[in-house]
Amino acid sequence: MVFSTYIFRSVLVILITYLLWRIRAFVIRYRQYRTATYGQNITTIGPIHPIWGSLHLFHDLASYFELLGKIVEKERPKVYVAWSMFFYPSFGVCHPDAAQILYKSSAPKAHAVGGAYRYLRDWIGDGLLISDGNKWERNRRLLTPGFHFEILKPYVKVYNSVTDVFLVRKLKMHAKSGEAVDIFPRVALATLDTILRCAFSYQENIQDQGSKHPYVNAVNRLSYLTLSRCLNPLYQIDFIYQFTKEGKELKQLCDYSHEFSNGIIKERKHTLEKDGQPTKHKLDFLDILLTAKDENGVGLSDEDIRAEVDTFMFEGHDTTAAAISWSIYCLGKYPEEQEKVYKEISELFVDKQEVTWENLQEMPRLTAFVKESMRMFAPVPGTSRLLTSPMKFGDIIVPAGVHIDISIHAIHHHPDVWPEHDVNIFYSDR
Ligand code: HEM
Repeated sequence: MVFSTYIFRSVLVILITYLLWRIRAFVIRYRQYRTATYGQNITTIGPIHPIWGSLHLFHDLASYFELLGKIVEKERPKVYVAWSMFFYPSFGVCHPDAAQILYKSSAPKAHAVGGAYRYLRDWIGDGLLISDGNKWERNRRLLTPGFHFEILKPYVKVYNSVTDVFLVRKLKMHAKSGEAVDIFPRVALATLDTILRCAFSYQENIQDQGSKHPYVNAVNRLSYLTLSRCLNPLYQIDFIYQFTKEGKELKQLCDYSHEFSNGIIKERKHTLEKDGQPTKHKLDFLDILLTAKDENGVGLSDEDIRAEVDTFMFEGHDTTAAAISWSIYCLGKYPEEQEKVYKEISELFVDKQEVTWENLQEMPRLTAFVKESMRMFAPVPGTSRLLTSPMKFGDIIVPAGVHIDISIHAIHHHPDVWPEHDVNIFYSDR
């Protein structure tokens, strides 16, 4: 009896000590956050509510970016802060000078609770997008050939063929009917088809099958579920999320998509064993992954290869789909700009059916147009890092332990970056 009382007391004392220690750590951190917000000249994205922090100021990502854009235009800051509820500040940089300081540092990607990268990890694993430190450095070095511009050259035929299907079989009928169409899912099929064919030698009429193809369906749902998780405070807690309907669906789809990637890898390995190594200029991205070796002759593990395949499959189609969709939107919205692009293209392609590699350098007007579309509507509107030590941006110090966003959208709309022309006007000659 006496013995069990001792055990009970000891457990209680340990628990209370742990709780007090956590509360003390929270109070110290909270004081630092308050000082960083109120004790220096930093821009807040509006009045901070004692309970909701900044959350009462916007209701979704679009209204958040709109609000941030207005503040940046008015106050022209380089760094800003918004609070999630009353206890957690989220800092951000919105000027290239500050972004440069952050990108040049070794601050890790944002994978603590609430960080944008945390929720992609189940799906795309620890590939280049999410990893950092030694792992990122080693794998980035091994994959350097995959980032050479010239690697794109042999695939111009694929781009032409994908675009033919997209324009003739998928869009033409809508052009005739005159009805509005949601362009993004159609473009996303075309870009997924492209990356699968170019990087992984996988060809399965993706555009015709659409979401009937289980991998396309999985990618669509995983994109939706990942974003939905980022935006729901309850879903941030792994223990709760795994029991929710969305959590279970995400797990099932991740398992399927990993199986799909493993299948592609296995098949390519088998072909390489059968046919021997391809010549250097015939290496596609998957071959680079399978054959890369570091200075000790050690290659990537099976898990690393799968993570890079999933990363490239996701990064390589979702971003380009967003960029192309917004460019098409801008063509419709700005008819005068469309006219200039149309003139350039029709003069260049008078008697030609296909675009060549050389042609890509011969369309300065279209290039400027796409760049301006990407400035107006950044396909990746922001990225994020976790500060493991305080960071100084001019006279502003951001404390350790917080996430800091690089707001690409806000940088693209900062009046000090584009002093000569209104940042809200589409102007491809800027
Ligand atoms: C319009 C098209 C694209 C945009 C706007 C875009 C944007 C970005 C951005 C902003 C990052 C930095 C993320 C960070 O530092 O946190 C990034 C990283 C990355 N992107 Fe893209 N991307 C595009 C196309 C692609 C394509 C086509 C691929 C692959 C085929 C790709 C693969 C990657 C990879 C692997 C990383 C991680 C790189 C590293 O950390 O070493 N991206 N992208």
